Amino acid sequence: MSKRLDDTVDRYTRYLNPGLARLMTFAGFGLEARAEGVYVYDDDGNAYLDCLGGYGVFALGHRHPKVVEAAKRALDQIPLSSKVFFNEPQGLLAEKLAELTPGNLQFSFFVSSGTEAVEAALKFARHYRGRPVFVAAHNGYHGKTFGSVSVTGREKYRTPFEPLLPTAKFVPFGDVDALAEAADEQTAAIILEPIQGEGGIRLAPPGYLTAAKEIAQKVGALLILDEVQTGLGRTGRNFAAEYDGVTPDLMTLAKALGGGVCPIGALIGTEEVWQAVLGENPLLHTSTFGGNQLACSCALAALEVLVQEDLATRAEERGKQLLAGLRQVQAQHSDLLAEVRGVGLMVGVEFSMDEVAELCIAHMLKRGVIAAYTLNNPRVIRFEPPLIISEEEVDRAINVFGEAVAETQELLGALQLGGNA
Ligand SMILES: Cc1ncc(COP(=O)(O)O)c(C=O)c1O
Repeated sequence: MSKRLDDTVDRYTRYLNPGLARLMTFAGFGLEARAEGVYVYDDDGNAYLDCLGGYGVFALGHRHPKVVEAAKRALDQIPLSSKVFFNEPQGLLAEKLAELTPGNLQFSFFVSSGTEAVEAALKFARHYRGRPVFVAAHNGYHGKTFGSVSVTGREKYRTPFEPLLPTAKFVPFGDVDALAEAADEQTAAIILEPIQGEGGIRLAPPGYLTAAKEIAQKVGALLILDEVQTGLGRTGRNFAAEYDGVTPDLMTLAKALGGGVCPIGALIGTEEVWQAVLGENPLLHTSTFGGNQLACSCALAALEVLVQEDLATRAEERGKQLLAGLRQVQAQHSDLLAEVRGVGLMVGVEFSMDEVAELCIAHMLKRGVIAAYTLNNPRVIRFEPPLIISEEEVDRAINVFGEAVAETQELLGALQLGGNA
């Protein structure tokens, strides 16, 4: 262990989060020193193929030159807004999002993270409808601030902070009948991820989002689609809602929106909702940092790259390759690997037992590939590499995963033998 790493682990232990320090040390993570494209380098100069992509942040890879250039320009001019003058990049970004997002989504409210975008969505929906209840999905993930965690479908993250919003109802993800039964004239909004990311890369049956929109309309509620993780090319479409051809009333974005360089989140909605919520009092919901020039300039450059480099199509093609390769590994280890699923470059591998995914992740890291499990479902290793990943790099990720699974299986076999002796 280098002295810098040693000192940093010590500072994590004494000043940040001792449990996390232990966990990261156990998994074998070192000190990140720099990053470029699809690679992260530690301070010993070792290169790691990034198959986690910062939970979906690095769609464009690390430090895409066009985004870095946009950031440098903003730094040299005006990175943070005075908040009283008009801010050109914020206007340009809102216009670009109106162009790219489906249907009549037109107005944007900018924040600095995914959970803030969700908070804004919940407040806008409540105000617009004047109703208290949110219907959300079991295993869904929308962030960890009070409102977002109130609609997050995993008790482990909710219980320690109760009482939360008492008006959240949960239904099984993908079940149209349950949704229809739960939504009524008290419902302000139905909030869903098009694909559950932290829930373990769970896909809903085709038509689910269309049905959700119809159910929302029938009871006069809004449909909020949380595309914080699925948005901006990740699933092989610019927005995962496009698979069902659905336009939500409100959409949340974050993660990849800052081009992997600057944090930014957004709530995007219709003119009708904006008029109702901000028409009378334009300062009813605000954010000091939201919409700053640095973040908006990075996001504008990121959206330009998304379109120019057709990242959605690249995600679709590389995603098919990744799924096929991982399924071959699954076929060889079907006792250990329960399922491989996903769409585009949002792919999950579910293990058939607990506490094995961690071992496999550590074995992958030793071989120079970064992966992680999903927050709501630790049995699932997720693959969310940058969308610029090459065919050869996808092959390497598959091979390394295969080797790591084989090593994990050997270890489990040895433990079992030891246990029987
Ligand atoms: C679908 C979804 N919504 C919201 C969030 C919260 O985003 P953040 O961690 O930026 O607050 C996440 C984070 O993983 C997410 O996946």
